[in-house]
Amino acid sequence: MQALRIAVAKGRLEEEILAMMDKTGMDCSAAVNKGRKLIVPVDGGRFELILAKSADIITYVEHGACDMGVVGKDIIMESARSLYEVMDLGLGRCRMMLAANKDQDFYQGFGVKTVATKYPNVARAFFEAKAMDVNIVKIEGSVELAPLLGLADGIVDIVQTGSTLKANGLEEKEWIAHISARLVVNIARMKMRKEEIDSFINRLRTVSDNAGGNT
Ligand code: PRP
Repeated sequence: MQALRIAVAKGRLEEEILAMMDKTGMDCSAAVNKGRKLIVPVDGGRFELILAKSADIITYVEHGACDMGVVGKDIIMESARSLYEVMDLGLGRCRMMLAANKDQDFYQGFGVKTVATKYPNVARAFFEAKAMDVNIVKIEGSVELAPLLGLADGIVDIVQTGSTLKANGLEEKEWIAHISARLVVNIARMKMRKEEIDSFINRLRTVSDNAGGNT
């Protein structure tokens, strides 16, 4: 039987999901000396961890190149792709927020506001729900710069500790969504390999300390 392929972002999430798999009793020893390898066998080859860029994970899962993926809810919300989101892993918790200059009312005045973000679809949906017309500018990173440089009135971004906002004279204005890493599954594969996938999910559930709390 071919290994179940699980795509995960390199780095902290990779370590956290490996720690969860290890806790369930799976043999994760091959991950220790993986070096620059991007495909890591787990549990005697029953699984393969595919180390990818976070924005590519849902692409691999949607097209069936990977059976499952571990990916942030922020990426899922932004991409609106066809896949099953089967479990909140409770990892990488943070929040999607509207933020703007400290001590400034983002909503004041009548002009159309400009919002900078890595998440244009999320931002558009948020303001559409308020029937508010805004200009959205896509920024690839360090979005906090945009209001500081006069490019935007506010930003839509993820906030974890809040220290980046604080260090740059910005503050949270409005909550948009709870964010955490989710387990996603390819739609066809969920049917074809249901037993193995269900068993994997159940094993993760036994060691998940996700009590439903959010930041
Ligand atoms: C994220 C996010 C914020 C920061 C929030 O950026 O876009 O900039 O982390 O974290 P904090 O609330 O703990 O300060 P990331 O570090 O992923 O880098 P990027 O801005 O280059 O995407």
